[in-house]
Amino acid sequence: MKKRRIYTSYSPNTRIKDLLLDIAILFQPYSWFRGYYPSKIEEWFRNQYMTDNVFTYNYARSAIYEFLRAAGIGQNDEVIVPAFTCVAAINPVLWTGAKAVYADIDETYLSPGLGSFQKAFTDKTKAIFIQHTFGLSGDLEKTVDWAQEKGLIVLEDCTQVLNPFSQRQKILGTLGDAAVFSFGRDKVVSGVDGGVLVVNNSEFVEKMRNQQDLLKYPPTSWLLKEILYPLLWAKIKFGMKFGKLGKLLHYIFTKSGLLTRATDADEKLGLKPSYIPARLPNALARLAYRQLNDLEELNKHRAEISSIYDSGLKAISGVKRFSFPAGTILLRYPLLVRDAEKLNKYCTDRGIVLGDWYKTPVAPAEADINAAGYHSGDAPIAESVCSQIINLPTSININSSDAKYIVDVIKEFYLERS
Ligand SMILES: Cc1ncc(COP(=O)(O)O)c(C=O)c1O
Repeated sequence: MKKRRIYTSYSPNTRIKDLLLDIAILFQPYSWFRGYYPSKIEEWFRNQYMTDNVFTYNYARSAIYEFLRAAGIGQNDEVIVPAFTCVAAINPVLWTGAKAVYADIDETYLSPGLGSFQKAFTDKTKAIFIQHTFGLSGDLEKTVDWAQEKGLIVLEDCTQVLNPFSQRQKILGTLGDAAVFSFGRDKVVSGVDGGVLVVNNSEFVEKMRNQQDLLKYPPTSWLLKEILYPLLWAKIKFGMKFGKLGKLLHYIFTKSGLLTRATDADEKLGLKPSYIPARLPNALARLAYRQLNDLEELNKHRAEISSIYDSGLKAISGVKRFSFPAGTILLRYPLLVRDAEKLNKYCTDRGIVLGDWYKTPVAPAEADINAAGYHSGDAPIAESVCSQIINLPTSININSSDAKYIVDVIKEFYLERS
């Protein structure tokens, strides 16, 4: 039996050097808020996406909210959103007073195709969100052409993709009027949290700048918990090696409120916390910037791990892989499987904690899906995918022997049932 536990989530990007940087940051409270790292991040995006119009925030959800406000979206407007997403992407629509209308997804790339957007379109539609789920992408150009014909604003959700080095993926982030990127704890590059908006349509820039000038920093208590997050998870994971100690630490850190979740309790009810929107603090920008500088290596690693899953999981009955063009970098490796819940448990019992994006069309499962404007049956394909999907880790802390072990455990599970 393998001893090391394998996690898909829970601070997956944190390497030893990130942890050391985090500790250094913890002891430099004078540079937590102000410093030059947010502008370093902006410069990085300006260079990659060849635009001057880059804005940074404490979350991608803040960026989405600020963009919708600048675009004048509000009461009586509708925004078409993918029915396989995170509540953090939907709430900003609701906070403007607009309605989120769900477009069902295409099962081959887990985001809506043109037909779904057309079906959800009404004379109240003002904007659409296109999303690169896990890094997969569909026939987006056609959708964007249609949206432009209809005079709709297009927000490109790049929170799960960041790969300007591949010729094919270079364009991701340039298709819509604006693109949003995330430095969330489980994202391509992590500052624990953080968001970037790249505005491609100059029409919105002045408003964005005016709004940005009025933004404040998030509270110190919020920031302290963000800085502690990688350290707390490192302690919990270490404790897990001694059985119950890890669980005890997790319980203590969660109950004390020190260990934060990706979305807080209010957000799961559709409410807006007071610290959204806010500026990106220097401390989080510094963490993210360290990983941005290693992005090519981090992405290459994800591709190598994905190829182990790809070849290892071929031809297993009960497992459906996704096909994707060369150059695609998967944030997590998605699979549609038979008996997803049983497989999940089987893997957990063998030390593998699989990813759960997404078990509900508006995730996480504890989110109030009705508050998000989703009604059961709105998106039957998404609902069916939610009941079958699991995701495997591709992050830098997963090595090739971990990936082969995951493959072996999944194979063993289906072999026992054949
Ligand atoms: C598809 C998608 N869009 C937007 C977001 C919001 O990103 P952030 O956590 O940086 O606000 C997330 C993650 O939470 C997401 O998965």
